[in-house]
Amino acid sequence: MKSKSIKQMASRGLVLTTFAGLLSVGTAIASGKVEVMHWWTSGGEANALNVLKEALGAQGIAWDDSAVAGGSGTNALQVLQARVASGNPPAAMQMHGEQIKTYAEEGLLGDLSEIATAQNWDAVMAPELQTFAKHDGVYVGVPFNEHRHNWMWVSKKIIDQYGGKVPETWDEWFVLADKMKADGVQPLAHGGQPWQEFMLWEDILVAVGGADFHKKAVQELDEAELGGDKMVQAFDTFRKVLSYADAGAANRDWNLATAMVIEDKAAFHFMGDWAKGEFTVANKKADVDYLCRAAPGTAGTYVFLADYWGFFPVKEEAAKQAQMEMAKLTMDPAVQTEFNIRKGSIPARIDIDPKAFDACGQAAIADRAAAAEKGGVLPSLSQNHAQSREVRGVFEDVITSFANDANITSADAVARIKSGLAGL
Ligand code: GAL
Repeated sequence: MKSKSIKQMASRGLVLTTFAGLLSVGTAIASGKVEVMHWWTSGGEANALNVLKEALGAQGIAWDDSAVAGGSGTNALQVLQARVASGNPPAAMQMHGEQIKTYAEEGLLGDLSEIATAQNWDAVMAPELQTFAKHDGVYVGVPFNEHRHNWMWVSKKIIDQYGGKVPETWDEWFVLADKMKADGVQPLAHGGQPWQEFMLWEDILVAVGGADFHKKAVQELDEAELGGDKMVQAFDTFRKVLSYADAGAANRDWNLATAMVIEDKAAFHFMGDWAKGEFTVANKKADVDYLCRAAPGTAGTYVFLADYWGFFPVKEEAAKQAQMEMAKLTMDPAVQTEFNIRKGSIPARIDIDPKAFDACGQAAIADRAAAAEKGGVLPSLSQNHAQSREVRGVFEDVITSFANDANITSADAVARIKSGLAGL
């Protein structure tokens, strides 16, 4: 799918009114320019980002692109740190909850109160995202989306060859994966990079102990839970799942792993719903070409993460106005709708009509609401929402070492996490 222009978007009934309003009321800020740093370089990610780029363009604001490739912002966040350290940050930066907090604590992020009040963010933004978008009660970040971390993407063609029933627990998954393996069918599409393995591990942790265990062990860092049997079991299961990876998995980028399911070369991929953006650009349809299901054992939970813009200080008035226009457009209902349809996520706004979304998008919106009622909306540890960078780093280091060294036992890994945290 080629990226659509604003005009084409506006011709869709669902966004017509809002986009028409949006395009006619804005005052063009001809000299405005925003340097935007982000890590959205895959086909699906770029397709989504174009929605905002074009909406800004329609307001006469130029987009100065500073993309830094590398899933999960592994590289971009390092470049950002260096640029902040040298006093030259970009005007706008893609951030997760943890970076908003860190840079806001340093007093570096622009105050978005005026737009937040005008657009009534307190009423329309998902409450769990407000926690991260605000610092000391003031909005300093604006979210695009709410991604779900704990998804399993399924090749419909392959699963149909095996009776069509999608496994709901890891035990069921292992039985089916063994059958596939015996037939020479690749069960798992895996990207062997630290952040991807960390996400898989976190899915498994939720499956092993549920929402309460996630809360105690990784959000509250409860010593007993961190050192207990469930943690050991999570590592055991993680090792077993990794044993289904193919020989080419080492250091594979996430979108190449998604492509294995898109091309029916592997049955399952565990990845956040940005993977859906890849299916979309490949012209694949939910429920027709692929299925989306909660990762085994995690139904009823919604492990979330979001992408926010944080705005660093700029000198010129036009540049400041351009930043504010960008914040406003990011939360605009029509932009939120089209952006999230393309990105695979659900809107950060809770007042968007779910009907505009496909089966997976609608399932995500419903699952989030159901999980919210039962305390099952959980901030992602691996995707920078549950803990500081340092704490997250302890987990990632241990998980990566464990994934790459069979001599490290599950009990060793648990002990290493405990001692790593104690050393902070
Ligand atoms: C996440 C980000 C997503 C997605 C993914 C892969 O960290 O929040 O929007 O793009 O990385 O790059």
